[in-house]
Amino acid sequence: MTSLLILNGPNLNLLGTRQPEVYGKTTLAEIEAMCAAKAKDCGCSVTCLQSNCEGELVNAIQATRGTHDGIILNAGAYTHTSVALLDAIASIDVPVIELHLSNIHAREEFRHKSYIAPVAVGQICGFGPDGYSLAMDAMLSHLGHAT
Ligand code: DQA
Repeated sequence: MTSLLILNGPNLNLLGTRQPEVYGKTTLAEIEAMCAAKAKDCGCSVTCLQSNCEGELVNAIQATRGTHDGIILNAGAYTHTSVALLDAIASIDVPVIELHLSNIHAREEFRHKSYIAPVAVGQICGFGPDGYSLAMDAMLSHLGHAT
């Protein structure tokens, strides 16, 4: 069965109360429940992980080798700083879709730079929690998974 990892980075555990004017009021638990329900509908499996630690995100990316077929990654602020995440993604064969709730290109200049984008299949941003569902569709299509 096609297996996806939904990986969320720093401060995304605070969704729901963190800057709701930017990120909305949906909690991470609600997003993960939506992803699990969608996976059931699509006939794939989904694992959801969140960490505030860069090294743990690197470990999770490396651990997908042989266990997951695709990664949907919201790396939070590490998107804009982390060569380690870029290197981790470049070191594995598992495809990654970069995801952001907000439209990072319409925000501060420092958010326009992504270290993930050059090693990602593509980027989805600006659609709030719906982005996770869109990213799952995009990844399943990329993987040739028939839904
Ligand atoms: C974010 C955008 C990042 O710039 C920010 O640091 C986040 C969340 C988003 O989902 O919109 O933590 O990745």
